[in-house]
Amino acid sequence: MRKPIIAGNWKMHKTIIESVDLVNDLKVSLADVSPDDITVIVAPVFTSLYAVHEVLSKHWIKLSAQNLFWEEKGAYTGEISPSMLTDCGCNYCIIGHSERRQYFGETDESVNRKIRAALHFGLSPIVCVGESLDQRESSQTFQVIEKQIRGGFSDISSLQMGNITIAYEPIWAIGTGKTATPEQANEVHAYIRKLISQLYDSKTADQQCIQYGGSVKPNNVNSLMEKPDIDGALVGGASLEAESFTSLVLGTLKAYSKA
Ligand code: 13P
Repeated sequence: MRKPIIAGNWKMHKTIIESVDLVNDLKVSLADVSPDDITVIVAPVFTSLYAVHEVLSKHWIKLSAQNLFWEEKGAYTGEISPSMLTDCGCNYCIIGHSERRQYFGETDESVNRKIRAALHFGLSPIVCVGESLDQRESSQTFQVIEKQIRGGFSDISSLQMGNITIAYEPIWAIGTGKTATPEQANEVHAYIRKLISQLYDSKTADQQCIQYGGSVKPNNVNSLMEKPDIDGALVGGASLEAESFTSLVLGTLKAYSKA
């Protein structure tokens, strides 16, 4: 039995005060939600992490970073280590987001090093995969996803997969308002699950949480979450306001039922 995960990737938005205000609002608007039914995660910018952690202390909403570097410490100007993130109260870290692959040169190899470092220091990775529009239009979607999964999860054990969330985010759907149809998304999610079953085993695949990301909004969340292989969402734009993010959590609770 899998539990859905709704994670808000705030990207490069919000000052400390704005971040604190948003989580305070979420604590109120999600007061009737039980963490037994759903995992809710917020991923603020680095500069807001500790302040948000303080507001969330003893609360069930979880904290994620958006990136990390694999070394513990050293002469790596501008980078941040996994243990510094746990020190700020982080439980999760987004790894290999397409914006990092596209603008900051991340590769499957660097994604793999980051996943291993995160796990080593007790952070649960949320690992992003997804194809570009060109790749989809030239029928390369499955090949691209397979390469990202094989490369990203190289030397990761089935036990470790239990601490990893996969987020399928088609690049053409991110921030464009162009959501993948529930059928398009589920087709890729089912493919990822099959791949996990081949690389590991069917039990690991059955338990694997696979989120969808890309223009998830209150008006399309239900139809996505009803699909058998979609286990929640990684949300950008609609996670920046308490009202829309809360609607996504409530919509998921309503639509998600996977035995
Ligand atoms: P949007 O929800 O704004 O399309 O962003 C999706 C995303 O990139 C989440 O990581």
